[in-house]
Amino acid sequence: MTFLITAGPTREPIDPVRYISNRSSGKMGYAVAEAALDVRHDVILISGPVNLAPPRNAKFISVSTSDEMFEAVHRHADESNVCVLCAAVADYKPAQVSPVKIKKHADGISIELVPTRDILQSLGCQDARKFLLVGFAAETDHLEANATKKLREKNCDIIVANDARIAMESDENELLILFRDGEMKKISRASKKILARQLVKIFSNSQQKSLTKKM
Ligand code: CTP
Repeated sequence: MTFLITAGPTREPIDPVRYISNRSSGKMGYAVAEAALDVRHDVILISGPVNLAPPRNAKFISVSTSDEMFEAVHRHADESNVCVLCAAVADYKPAQVSPVKIKKHADGISIELVPTRDILQSLGCQDARKFLLVGFAAETDHLEANATKKLREKNCDIIVANDARIAMESDENELLILFRDGEMKKISRASKKILARQLVKIFSNSQQKSLTKKM
């Protein structure tokens, strides 16, 4: 199978020296990529800026902004069997990017932010998609309720929910996995590498099951 995986944060430029971003380390997405490669799947890894070495044997696409990630995902989604959108895509970007460095002023400044495009939702609303669509949900509260809402609103097959306070920058995570048919699976705290192996098994089984149903 071919796995398309997004990982890491995006950077939304304000001017040539500043940007808006978040604390995502990319570790979960890279661990899923490594785990998929270990069991001989093909991997397309689309990554925002992180301090991790790209996995050997993956097709690696480096991006910076949410728009670049959007374009790369759409370019490769149809050649994939499983799309796992792990990246912490910025929800907002500056309405305008200054071509020159913004100078300091005595009084404060405001930056107008506009929403970025939601990559997961844009794949979820494709009528004839053939790939299994997996989203992640990073929450700090009401994990199950918020993740259930994302599963429905973004029309994915699986949502992997995690507590952002445990997951961010850490080597460990704990997961609540929600499936479209209402099934739910909890995986207690473990290293992201171990969790990734279990996730890859779950994703490939689900993709296989959905293929059998369609036949
Ligand atoms: N996502 C995306 N494009 C965006 C924002 C999010 O593809 N512009 C994807 C993420 O990769 C993840 C899922 O949507 O798979 C949920 O991301 P999350 O940050 O948890 O939720 P948001 O939709 O951004 O909502 P909120 O920040 O309000 O929780």
